Amino acid sequence: MAKLTNEQKQKIVLACKQDITFFAKHICGSELSPKQIEFAIKWLVSLRTTFKGGVGFGKTHIMAILILWALFTHNDVQVTIFGPGESQIKDGIWKEIGIIWGRMDPEWKDLFDYQATRLSRKDSPTGAFAAYRLANKDNIESARGIHMRNNFVFVDEASGVPDEIFQVLGNIFTDQNPKLCLISNPARTTGFFYDTWEHEDISTIWTKVHGKMSDNPRLAKEAYEAMAIGYGGKGSRDYRINVEGEFPLDEVDGVIPAHLVREAIENTLAVAPFEGERDEQPTFSFVNEASR
Ligand SMILES: Nc1ncnc2c1ncn2[C@@H]1O[C@H](COP(=O)(O)OP(=O)(O)OP(=O)(O)O)[C@@H](O)[C@H]1O
Ligand SMILES: [Mg+2]
Repeated sequence: MAKLTNEQKQKIVLACKQDITFFAKHICGSELSPKQIEFAIKWLVSLRTTFKGGVGFGKTHIMAILILWALFTHNDVQVTIFGPGESQIKDGIWKEIGIIWGRMDPEWKDLFDYQATRLSRKDSPTGAFAAYRLANKDNIESARGIHMRNNFVFVDEASGVPDEIFQVLGNIFTDQNPKLCLISNPARTTGFFYDTWEHEDISTIWTKVHGKMSDNPRLAKEAYEAMAIGYGGKGSRDYRINVEGEFPLDEVDGVIPAHLVREAIENTLAVAPFEGERDEQPTFSFVNEASR
């Protein structure tokens, strides 16, 4: 690309600020999917966004784009990424940021300093930067004291992050332009991430985005179908979480699903096993009271 004048660069930065898909395409070389665009737009206009989804349709990728966009188009901006495990952050979001940064035109790439744990804009290393922190029970304090005019926090794999972290993260809302965004496979039916979707009060203040494995335009039909079967097919717990991007019906994948056990307990028509002598065979019957 021919060298741009400062005026041309300013125009491009402005266009990117107004349009994340333009930034994704022309600076990052990414054609965003409709689901990724939906997420980007909702994130832009919301203080709190919660994104649940099946596997592999581009959650981490769009998060990486938003992080780069935030540093590209803002001053006084801090982006903090939380995740439950260091290798999961390094091999996930941090790697994705590095890949996108690595393929930028040198004109834009050279604006950033990409390090193992920190990404910053060279002209403002302490005024425009992103960094990640571990979010586990031993590290609650890591969520404290994060303040900046544009204060953007992403929590990846949020269903694995302890509730205490979210209580502390609430402090960012005293800043001028705060955003808290949770992203996760809906793997658990307890905890804060679950509450952002299902809790009667908490869920009312969260903007929601739901994605499915089928929201991936790069996945061929045959590959999709094989993967869906691999997750146990329709109706299985893993299929619900990983393909449909829905919370499981039960917290633990037991031999007999908990909701069926509950139904059985509540079923007044089922007769309890016969309690006889030790050497007598117990008899199990599910006799309809009405037919006796
Ligand atoms: N719009 C896009 N353009 C090009 N590549 C993309 C796009 N979206 C995602 N990808 C690529 O597809 C792959 C899967 O995307 P990503 O890792 O973001 O999925 P995910 O939803 O986070 O998956 P998981 O559920 O496993 O965490 C990655 O290699 C990523 O770079
Ligand atoms: Mg991911």
